[in-house]
Amino acid sequence: MSTKLSVNINKIATLRNSRGGNVPDLLKVAIDCERYGAQGITVHPRPDERHIRYRDILDLKAIITTEFNIEGNPREKKFLDLVLDVKPTQVTLVPDEIGQVTSDHGWDTITHKSFLTDIVALFNSNGIRTSIFVDPNFKMIEAAKETGTTRIELYTENYAKYYTNNRLEAINLYKTAALRAKEIGLEINAGHDLNLENLGYFAENIVGLMEVSIGHALISDALYFGLENAIQLYLRKLKQN
Ligand code: PXP
Repeated sequence: MSTKLSVNINKIATLRNSRGGNVPDLLKVAIDCERYGAQGITVHPRPDERHIRYRDILDLKAIITTEFNIEGNPREKKFLDLVLDVKPTQVTLVPDEIGQVTSDHGWDTITHKSFLTDIVALFNSNGIRTSIFVDPNFKMIEAAKETGTTRIELYTENYAKYYTNNRLEAINLYKTAALRAKEIGLEINAGHDLNLENLGYFAENIVGLMEVSIGHALISDALYFGLENAIQLYLRKLKQN
């Protein structure tokens, strides 16, 4: 089983929005990512729509042929309605705060267990797979399982942060967290700050890693290598070409 690459295209929308108009064309980029080998497209709308807009997500739904993953906080009614309307393959539940620059923590799945349980049931009954964004913490992973979700996404910022100094130490917590998740029957995704330098080692060490969603580094690498080459380089790190 190989790990799927889902490209987060928020940065493309950010670039487009900086000028108004439709350059770069988000829909074309999504189709091209798929043509170049990505197995999924990820979007993360924020309430202020500063990068991906809600309208974009409806348009993307009509053209995407791979896995569509929408990330965000289900406490936002607009987000909840959008996901139920679009019915993507997967919704990744993230505890975003208003005005947050990017995701910076996983759920406290103990405190929010009853809310998450209801949300997971609602999405699942609409045929949408759920994935809960968590830190690599046993208690949070075990409580995530109790919500009924089949998947979690491990928040990898700390792995990326400590990778350069000591990759063995950086991976340890993630490795044991992933083993625990697997043991209790959860599937695993991962994301945040993964890049060409740290991705290969992560994928080699995390048993049963189903999917990584990567945005910032991959789109930045596309400036140097071009989008097609960048995607191919990431796939190579996942041992897919
Ligand atoms: N996963 C989640 C839940 C995120 O919020 C983000 C950033 O939007 C990512 C993955 C991707 O992170 P990056 O842009 O650093 O690759």
